[in-house]
Amino acid sequence: MTDALADYRDETLGCTRCPLAATRTQVVFGSGDPHAELMFVGEAPGFHEDQSGIPFVGQAGKLLEKLLGGIGLTRTDVYVANVIKCRPPGNRDPHPEEIEACESHLFRQIELIRPTLVATLGNFATKLLSGKPAGITRVHGVEQQVVLGGNAVTLYPLFHPAAALYTPSMQKVLEQDFARIPELLGRPCVSETQSLVAPAARPAPTEPVGPAVQLGLF
Ligand code: URA
Repeated sequence: MTDALADYRDETLGCTRCPLAATRTQVVFGSGDPHAELMFVGEAPGFHEDQSGIPFVGQAGKLLEKLLGGIGLTRTDVYVANVIKCRPPGNRDPHPEEIEACESHLFRQIELIRPTLVATLGNFATKLLSGKPAGITRVHGVEQQVVLGGNAVTLYPLFHPAAALYTPSMQKVLEQDFARIPELLGRPCVSETQSLVAPAARPAPTEPVGPAVQLGLF
């Protein structure tokens, strides 16, 4: 971790800006390469993240790792964080006041890491970082140019991996959207066999099928 990011992490570990401080086990700041070009932003820590202090270590995290592997990346190549840094009790959706209290932690992280591509996982991260109300079902797989932490960044909305755990057809959509990440990083695409191939034509964004909409994941 860069000194500045490590210092900022240390500062946040005692955060009491919102009532989640009283119910969390620990702050889940973020993990990965502090110089990553690609940063993922999820929603909030769940049970396993709250226990371990590391984002995306549960089932959704396993799928995230599999999707990264499909494009020739590992978690150590990227940085992973969440909109809010403390687990909401019972894994409920974050409340607007919690997001508001926590958002400057995320913006500071982005400012210090300086990624060129920020992939938002699900509605909460997408709406916060795009500053627009459009839901993930409409905007997934479509990059946007934004300024975050004072830098020009490509924002790339994706469905939340937890959505695919409940609706297997979503996994295909996620795989298709992930397949464009190398191109968005300005790199050649990596095929399923990991051989380098020229960037492919972009698959048309697909709509999700199934009931996971109810989860607030899209
Ligand atoms: N879901 C998230 O959004 N973040 C995590 O860290 C784990 C699950």
